Amino acid sequence: MLSYNSFMKNSILLIGNSDGIGAAVTRALVANGTRVIGLSRSPSPLGPHGPRHIVQDIASPEYEEVLNTLLVEEGPIETCIFCAAIGSELQLPDLSQEALVIEVNFTAMVRTLATLVPGWLEQGQGHFIGLSSIADDFYNAHAPSYTASKAGFSNYLVSMGMKLRPHGVHVTNIRFGFVDTKLPKASWKPLLMTADQAAATIIRCLETKPIQHTVPKLAGAAVHLYRLAQSGRIWWR
Ligand SMILES: NC(=O)c1ccc[n+]([C@@H]2O[C@H](COP(=O)([O-])OP(=O)(O)OC[C@H]3O[C@@H](n4cnc5c(N)ncnc54)[C@H](OP(=O)(O)O)[C@@H]3O)[C@@H](O)[C@H]2O)c1
Repeated sequence: MLSYNSFMKNSILLIGNSDGIGAAVTRALVANGTRVIGLSRSPSPLGPHGPRHIVQDIASPEYEEVLNTLLVEEGPIETCIFCAAIGSELQLPDLSQEALVIEVNFTAMVRTLATLVPGWLEQGQGHFIGLSSIADDFYNAHAPSYTASKAGFSNYLVSMGMKLRPHGVHVTNIRFGFVDTKLPKASWKPLLMTADQAAATIIRCLETKPIQHTVPKLAGAAVHLYRLAQSGRIWWR
């Protein structure tokens, strides 16, 4: 049984929580008495009587303004979990979704941090958890924008974690393998986790605040070996 006691008193902002892993985290936190504020394009996974939910597209120009209004209304929010992402398989010659994938998966995360961090620096505390993927570690001709967005996401978050930790602000980059949601389209999903298992991992990270966490580690190691083989082939071409 996990103990959520240390963060029960504070509100947790969940970006991208209408479905999948974000919805599973929402359910687990609410069941434990934590106050959650959700944000996604669709309504709350817990319905109209669930926790506060903002219907908002994080790729829209007014996203930061919406977040700033929320901070004024709610007061300081010490924890944010960024779960939003889209995936798009590249079907040539149509590259129309490529920039949007980078905007939602990577740029919106950078915009979220840029809005929250100044207040966290003033308070000398704060915790940002971003959901990345072991896909950050290989080249993928089927979904280049997704893997590139995750490579940038992981690199940026770990670098920001190193920058912010001395100021009392924690950043955690979680690299998942396959999780059973609508997002992954692969026909073979080795070491598949449930969304509830992924949520439990995230909740543990709320307590332990690692700078990066990879799960399952075996999948992360396998992808890294694949990446080394890819790099070798590219190097000698
Ligand atoms: N599932 C996996 O196998 C897997 C593996 C590794 C990493 N991850 C990562 O884990 C995170 C969660 O993935 P998931 O599997 O739970 O995906 P999911 O089931 O597709 O859920 C994605 C969430 O993001 C929200 N979202 C997407 N575009 C948005 C936008 N423009 N504005 C606001 N919200 C938006 C969606 O809500 P709306 O559609 O309502 O906006 C939804 O709540 C992602 O970062 C993903 O890359 C997943």
